[in-house]
Amino acid sequence: MAIQTIGLLTSGGDAPGMNPCIRAVVRTALSKDLKVMGIREGYSGLVDGDIVPLAARDVGGILQRGGTVLGTARSPEFMEKSGQREAIRHLNEFAIDGLVVIGGDGSMRGARALAEQGVKVVGVPGSIDNDLWGTNMAIGVDTALNTIRDAIDKLRDTASSHRRAFLVETMGRDCGYLAVMAGLIGGAEMVLIPERETTVEEVAQLIENAYKRGKTHAIIVVAEGASLKSIALAESLNSMDIGFKTRVTILGHIQRGGRPSAFDRLLATRMGVAAVEALARGESDVMVGLDGRDILPVPLEKVVAHKREANLDYFEMARMLAF
Ligand code: ADP
Ligand code: F6P
Repeated sequence: MAIQTIGLLTSGGDAPGMNPCIRAVVRTALSKDLKVMGIREGYSGLVDGDIVPLAARDVGGILQRGGTVLGTARSPEFMEKSGQREAIRHLNEFAIDGLVVIGGDGSMRGARALAEQGVKVVGVPGSIDNDLWGTNMAIGVDTALNTIRDAIDKLRDTASSHRRAFLVETMGRDCGYLAVMAGLIGGAEMVLIPERETTVEEVAQLIENAYKRGKTHAIIVVAEGASLKSIALAESLNSMDIGFKTRVTILGHIQRGGRPSAFDRLLATRMGVAAVEALARGESDVMVGLDGRDILPVPLEKVVAHKREANLDYFEMARMLAF
């Protein structure tokens, strides 16, 4: 039977571009005479039944805003079968017969759990980490990279003036994607990622070499998931005589905020439209992903079975260009 009511939620860490995606989902659904219900604060809202109707005007003026107007959360209750039963009970109560989940890899696992229990669901990748398999880019990654680029550019100014080394810690959980790309576009001397072990001695040697080659600074991007932790690493480096003294900047949640970039708005809009079109065609248990220039459905089963890692070719490229 063709679907009549779409439910929509944003889940996990927020990402710039979730709002334009919400707008695209709502207005695409309305254009097909489907009803839309907004579920507040991710799977928590589904477990608790915090669900409201969404009309075209409810999503006006959000295209350019970071964050998510639906709110987001991490829901331990939904990890349990009992929570999922409550969620399905509320889907039935509100007559939601198609669900769009915008979120990261954990959120896609949640979507898969619902699909396995007969819910028609389409996932949309939204996470600054870019750790999702099945899409070249997730919504929010480009904006986060622009934020990191601006931060590194500014830090280089002060690093050069004081002849210092800076450890710049980026997010990404246990994936080094953001750190590698930030290192490449920010001209970092070194990148530390979970996918590659590095020792304190290697970092110290690199900084000393940069100093001896006459560099005025050394920027080292440290992924939060790297085995060396930035504060402890800085303490070790500062106890050695390697030319530069070291300072640490942890960029933290700044990376998750801000207006979505042009790229993210476009990606979010295309993916939102594609998610509703997929549900309307009767597709389910898929995530819409960016494949080359196209937005294509990928089975959720495959998405959750794989782990996306940083591209080590770019890691090597950043290292080569740092000379
Ligand atoms: P992200 O989606 O950004 O990766 P999380 O990993 O925190 O964020 O996942 C968001 C939410 O998705 C979790 O709080 C939980 O409610 C749900 N979730 C994560 N993993 C699973 C799972 N294996 N089964 C069911 N739900 C899950
Ligand atoms: O998944 C997005 C992310 O920002 C990760 O990069 C980071 O590890 C985590 O969320 C931080 O989570 P919280 O917002 O709960 O501190």
